[in-house]
Amino acid sequence: MNDEKISRKALRELIAGTIFAEHIHHFDEIDSTNSAAMLAAQSGAAEGSVFVAERQTEGRGRGGNIWHSEPGAIYLSIVLRPRVRANDVLILSLATGLAVAAAVEEVCGIAPDLRWPNDILLGEKKLGGILCELNIDAGKVRHAVIGVGLNANQAEFPEGIREVATSLLQETGKSWPRVELVGALLRAFQKEYQAMQSAPADAMQDCIARFEKRSSYARGKRVKVAEGDGFEGITEGLDARGFLRVKTSSGPRLVMSGGVRPA
Ligand code: BTN
Repeated sequence: MNDEKISRKALRELIAGTIFAEHIHHFDEIDSTNSAAMLAAQSGAAEGSVFVAERQTEGRGRGGNIWHSEPGAIYLSIVLRPRVRANDVLILSLATGLAVAAAVEEVCGIAPDLRWPNDILLGEKKLGGILCELNIDAGKVRHAVIGVGLNANQAEFPEGIREVATSLLQETGKSWPRVELVGALLRAFQKEYQAMQSAPADAMQDCIARFEKRSSYARGKRVKVAEGDGFEGITEGLDARGFLRVKTSSGPRLVMSGGVRPA
């Protein structure tokens, strides 16, 4: 693996003028960048605080899963104080997916697929994932932390993960500058977020439309849904809050949070 550590100074230059530039925290090792960001947000950390680590000892995925966090990948969390209503926060995950896909396309020239709500895919394998955690009070979001894990330069994965995960190195045969990827991701996210803060309703509809276009899973895909007892059906796009519509043999259903897999 030919991979340099993410330089705070280089990252700062790449994201000059964004809400993130003056609040970069870099760690060689940390338990979880999401945990650190949640704690910092609770203690008043500025919006735009970025926590980025070379490796995590207790990386967390959705549904209480462990997120394998050896060196070579990107482990990043950001603190936000969004104006979106608690009911509408799914849009933060969808916007992050779009920003990650845009960054990979800008830096590496390949276009990842997005699997609702938070998976970044190349082919059917997972290139990355998004974990959005919230502190909500009386229906309002006090703060949100968005964590992104993106498999960049890992040459291999341990058994049990290698069957379902891939990295940019594995897909393209070369290492990629992670600092450039993080810079592109934060710049792309800033655009999404600015739109969301200034005109939330319009930005939501625009973001949902773009997510649908970017995702082979959003329409016409037969999926298994891991929600409640689980069910199967065909995807029919996203509703106005970003939830996934699925047509099943017993009628239409709306998926609020469960993951989907090809059926
Ligand atoms: C998933 O697909 O299950 C979401 C994975 C999110 C992993 C990232 S890595 C950076 C941040 N810190 C964590 O502990 N988790 C997220």
